[in-house]
Amino acid sequence: MIGIGNDHTGYELKMEIIKYFEENKIEYKDFGCGKQESSDYPIYAKAVGRALQKKECDLGILICGTGIGISIAANKMKGIRAALCHDCFSAEATRLHNNANVLAMGARVVGPGLAVKIVDTFLNSKFSGEERHSRRIQMIEEE
Ligand code: RB5
Repeated sequence: MIGIGNDHTGYELKMEIIKYFEENKIEYKDFGCGKQESSDYPIYAKAVGRALQKKECDLGILICGTGIGISIAANKMKGIRAALCHDCFSAEATRLHNNANVLAMGARVVGPGLAVKIVDTFLNSKFSGEERHSRRIQMIEEE
């Protein structure tokens, strides 16, 4: 199950990603926001983060204008490793090396075509499980 959340700037891009989920029969849960004038991105970062912490979702996608605020908010949460990626190389590498469980993107940074490719790459890449990467992730968790 993929959890997806966004602020007002990310609504249209989210709908493009939802179209990709539906075309590819990928199960998702939409944590908002819906179409609205203004919204606070930490609300949606926390909603998706909590769903991951409770294991209601396996991975998350977060979108704000830059992807920065929403990834900062998500990364404050225990067990959340949110990676801000605007290219496919990073989206793959962050799954392989960091076992990132959230992909963050900026709707004002990437167009929908690239964003969907980045999502596809992220979802289809797996953590390598290599000891050195596990060790480093453990060190992050220790604070
Ligand atoms: C909203 O204007 C904007 O600040 C937000 O979407 C995001 O880019 C914050 O990091």
